[in-house]
Amino acid sequence: MTRIIACANLKGGEGKTTLARHVAYHAASRGRKTLAVDLDPQANLTDSLLTEAEEFTSSAALFDAAFSIEQVRPVESEKNLWLLPADARLDALADIPGDRSTLVKRVRASLRAIAGFDLIVVDTPTNAPVCYLGGLAAADGVVSPVQMDAYGIAGAVRLTQAIQRVRAHTNPRLVHIGFAVNRFNSRAASHGDLLAQCRAKRLRLLDSVLHERVAVQDALGRRMPVWRGPRGRVNARAAREMRALCTEVLAGVDL
Ligand SMILES: Nc1ncnc2c1ncn2[C@@H]1O[C@H](COP(=O)(O)OP(=O)(O)O)[C@@H](O)[C@H]1O
Ligand SMILES: [Mg+2]
Repeated sequence: MTRIIACANLKGGEGKTTLARHVAYHAASRGRKTLAVDLDPQANLTDSLLTEAEEFTSSAALFDAAFSIEQVRPVESEKNLWLLPADARLDALADIPGDRSTLVKRVRASLRAIAGFDLIVVDTPTNAPVCYLGGLAAADGVVSPVQMDAYGIAGAVRLTQAIQRVRAHTNPRLVHIGFAVNRFNSRAASHGDLLAQCRAKRLRLLDSVLHERVAVQDALGRRMPVWRGPRGRVNARAAREMRALCTEVLAGVDL
């Protein structure tokens, strides 16, 4: 059975693509056949995972009325890891006005029809509702990075409400795997206070916390996960906490 995880938050820059990428790498390195799907018109996940390929399907195909699984041709990124890249067509879809429910239902049906993978990880945008709602409608579980500032927490509260709406209308089985506290700085008093606020608001926080790490940005530049790189360049603590978070995220969908 294929599990689908959506990485979503209603605020940009919280670390969605970073987390989606690492969950995908982590699952692949554990022998899980993994498909990373980029539903963000900004195509950041695509920029990180795309390799040379002659012919491939873009994630916009998931919105086609005539979508068939035979037509899916993902790009192989590395062992056990494939990518359904974003392309310019997603931008046009994101701009379609009016009733989105038909497109959202199509994405759900298309993603759920894809067979042959243990895991599909969907990266979603913040400001293209048809794309993030499609990801949430298809997913078994949703995970959201959140940073410790007032805007980040406001976004997390809105996402919790959005998840409830998705459950009520399109996807009753959607599990909220949880919020992953990201870019935490234990020396910042405000971070500790805001973490306490999150608990008081009963936001569903994962146990694993990602600290602010230069190593995460360096790994992005290397187009690699944070636990891989030249000797001396890998920050062991950053690698350990990212692996722990990814393990917790996969456990959220029983993987
Ligand atoms: N724990 C971290 N430490 C340092 N930089 C981080 C961390 N997590 C994410 N970043 C950086 O923050 C930026 C935004 O992250 P990204 O994953 O693109 O966010 P989103 O997809 O939610 O917009 C990226 O440059 C990323 O490298
Ligand atoms: Mg992103």
